Amino acid sequence: MACNDTSKISYLTHVKYMESLEKNSKAFHWIITYNEKDVGYIKIIDLELGSSIKDSFQGMGIGTKAYSLVFKEAKKLGLIKLTALVKTDRLTSLKFEEKTGWKKIGIEYKNKKPYAYKLEHTL
Ligand SMILES: CC(C)(COP(=O)(O)OP(=O)(O)OC[C@H]1O[C@@H](n2cnc3c(N)ncnc32)[C@H](O)[C@@H]1OP(=O)(O)O)[C@@H](O)C(=O)NCCC(=O)NCCS
Repeated sequence: MACNDTSKISYLTHVKYMESLEKNSKAFHWIITYNEKDVGYIKIIDLELGSSIKDSFQGMGIGTKAYSLVFKEAKKLGLIKLTALVKTDRLTSLKFEEKTGWKKIGIEYKNKKPYAYKLEHTL
C-alpha cells in the first residue's frame, strides 16, 4: 500500500521491469541486510528514492541507518538532490522521512484529490 502504483502485475512483468532497469544508468538499488537476512530495499531511479522494509523489521532503527548509508553512497555517485513521494495518509512514513532530513516541497494530485507529498533531500 506504500507504493505509488498499486496495480497488480504478473511476476514476469515485474522481472522484465527490473531487467529494464539494468540498462538505466540512473537506477541504483541496495538490499538492506540485518543479521545476514535480507529485510528491505532502497532504490533511486532518476533521482527519486523509494524504500521498503519488511513489516516485522520496521521500527527498529534499520531504516534510519540504511538511509544514512544510502545518502553517503548516493553522494559518492555524484547525486546532489533526491526526491520522494509519500502518500498523504501514510503519516508514520512521513514522520520517518522528516526525521531523516526530507523537506515537503509540494503535493501531488490524483483525480483532482491530494494524493502524496513530494519531498526533497539535499545530499
Ligand atoms: C518508512 C520505513 C522505511 C521506516 O523504516 P524503519 O526501519 O521502520 O524506521 P526506524 O525504525 O528507523 O524509525 C525511525 C522513525 O520513524 C518513525 N517510525 C518508524 N516506524 C514506526 C512505527 N511502526 N510506528 C511509529 N513510528 C514509526 C518514528 O518516528 C521513528 O523514530 P523514533 O524511533 O525516534 O520514534 C519503513 O517503516 C517502511 O518500509 N515502511 C513501508 C514502506 C514505506 O512507507 N516506505 C517509505 C515511502 S517511500
